[in-house]
Amino acid sequence: MSDRVVVAGAVYDRGRLLAARRSAPEELAGRWELPGGKLEPGESPEQALVRELREELGVETEPVERVPGEWPLKPGYVLRVWTVRLLSGEPRPLEDHDALRWLGPHELDDVDWLDQDRPAVAAVAGLSAE
Ligand code: CDP
Repeated sequence: MSDRVVVAGAVYDRGRLLAARRSAPEELAGRWELPGGKLEPGESPEQALVRELREELGVETEPVERVPGEWPLKPGYVLRVWTVRLLSGEPRPLEDHDALRWLGPHELDDVDWLDQDRPAVAAVAGLSAE
């Protein structure tokens, strides 16, 4: 059986990366992640990402490029990440999160990322440094 895909967005605005602090479930609450979620049946990863960011943050976004790589989550799930451009709206923690931060290039270590998001954030940082 193939793994289920969880998509997450590296949302950039004026050179800063958006980090979101999870409010649930209890074992993840307080840790920071790239916002996103699971694909629904029939959705492409890009469609799922646009939907999740609309639901969770109240913004319209456009996936730009896939960040090379794939990272294991809990058994049966893998994380794939896209860089994302903010088209409209100011992100607000509407669902799943209780705080947001915009991180400049030298601030990426300032938040306590979920373990599984750390390699993804490192890959994103490598990409944006090119
Ligand atoms: O909103 P939905 O239920 O589709 O998904 P979610 O609960 O936000 O994420 C699904 C799973 O992926 C959860 O176990 C999250 O902890 C995990 N996840 C993650 O580890 N890192 C992310 N950047 C996004 C989700």
